[in-house]
Amino acid sequence: MNRRLGNEITVQWQAPVTELVAGLIRHPKTISSKFLYDETGSRLFEDITRLPEYYQTRTETEILRSSVDTLRLFFDRPTTLVELGSGSSTKTKILLDEMNAIKAYVPIDISTDFLMETVRKLSQDYPHIDMAGVSADYTKSFEIPKLDTERTVVFFPGSTIGNFEPAAAVDFLCHIRTHLSNGDLLIIGVDRKKERLIIEAAYNDSSGVTSAFNKNLLTRINREYGCRIDETTFEHVSFYNDKAGRIEMHLQSMIDQTVELAGEIITFEEGETIHTENSYKFDMNDIETMSVKSGLQLKRVISDELNYFSVCIMEVVHQ
Ligand code: TRP
Repeated sequence: MNRRLGNEITVQWQAPVTELVAGLIRHPKTISSKFLYDETGSRLFEDITRLPEYYQTRTETEILRSSVDTLRLFFDRPTTLVELGSGSSTKTKILLDEMNAIKAYVPIDISTDFLMETVRKLSQDYPHIDMAGVSADYTKSFEIPKLDTERTVVFFPGSTIGNFEPAAAVDFLCHIRTHLSNGDLLIIGVDRKKERLIIEAAYNDSSGVTSAFNKNLLTRINREYGCRIDETTFEHVSFYNDKAGRIEMHLQSMIDQTVELAGEIITFEEGETIHTENSYKFDMNDIETMSVKSGLQLKRVISDELNYFSVCIMEVVHQ
């Protein structure tokens, strides 16, 4: 490396109140799921990933661990690993430990605090890898620092791609592709379609962590915008929508009420919900369709024995 990045953090995002208000004055009410991830939200999500019901994280981690030989075929030249979302780093570490070709690591995350902690910890463990955190909403625009390696691999684990609407997932991947060159790769984790009970349990855990994660959104709004929403009047609701092929997550008001946000009066009827998240599930056909529509070449789909989860490797081929 002829340039060190000094582990700096660039802040490129702040929660805009206008976006929140717009989602809450319409019917059905929505709040973009990116508001879930403040520091508390990111920590609660970490707890979700360790829940017995939440099979996704351990399955994906196991897939990565058991397929390092296959993955090495794709890490055959000096590489910058760009991670979308910085997470707990368990999965990242598998790559940083096993793929010697990784010379630089650039996590991009909306939660600045969490990102700073990730970069701080990882740069201690991997002093030979150049690191730079980018605090940004990676669904909008962001910059990938230009580094002196031969390939960029974008790592997008956790089935976060399933949190986009299918058309938005394609737009998003097309957008990522514009940051990349021929031969660059994407490694994308996707949660597979399976028996409803198994999926629903993963989003309705018995210890209530998912509920706390969902409700933290209200706590965040109260704190950041001086609102006085009573979190105890809302209930966490999530179910598999078979037709759409997705888990839906809602916060349901148990009473008639009004709340004030940035000068706007927002009215809730008893039973009315705020739709806070979708998590689409994929079959093989969905994976292929997404890669074709995004102009990416699907190179490999690596799954666990039960086909609960898949790690997909796609290559950028510009015409
Ligand atoms: N990407 C994760 C998923 O779709 C996000 C997630 C897991 C989530 N559990 C959640 C989002 C609970 C909101 C609430 O599985």
